[in-house]
Amino acid sequence: MSAILPPAKRVWWKEPLDRVELTWILIAFAWAMVLFFMMPYWHAFGRQNLSNEAYRISAEAFSAKAQAMVDKYTVREETEQKIPVVHPPEGSDVYLIARLWQWWPILELENGKSYRLHLSAMDYQHGFSLQPSNINLQVVPGYEMVITVTPNQAGNYSIVCNEYCGLGHHQMVSRLYVK
Ligand code: CUA
Repeated sequence: MSAILPPAKRVWWKEPLDRVELTWILIAFAWAMVLFFMMPYWHAFGRQNLSNEAYRISAEAFSAKAQAMVDKYTVREETEQKIPVVHPPEGSDVYLIARLWQWWPILELENGKSYRLHLSAMDYQHGFSLQPSNINLQVVPGYEMVITVTPNQAGNYSIVCNEYCGLGHHQMVSRLYVK
């Protein structure tokens, strides 16, 4: 027997299965099935995974929509970079842009009101992590992620990019206000 030469008996897969081997295959298969069905189960009953929609959109089209919202509903500016704070009306479409290395604009939502939140990236992949609610969404260029959100607790939330996106990744933080 040699690791370099081909095996003397070529049809090696016609060996009979050992009982122990078969048992392990069945255990692994059963566990794989459990994990597989946990995915839909956890989505429906785990109260953790968000139901979201995703659509194809170009960076230009998305930023045009975000700009239109900012032009209409900006109430003030914040931070050194003078990022607009937007207070859109209840039920409206709200846009949040992720780009190197900034979230734009800052959103101010009302407690108990519903909004359609659209997220997209202008350049590379970013991660939307809302703290302390622990909501996580991937923000991908070329697609917009849409979720219906109804904030149920007033406060100041932090948005952290949790997908490594280059040198300024650690500075890609923002805030979200719920009044
Ligand atoms: Cu954007 Cu990390």
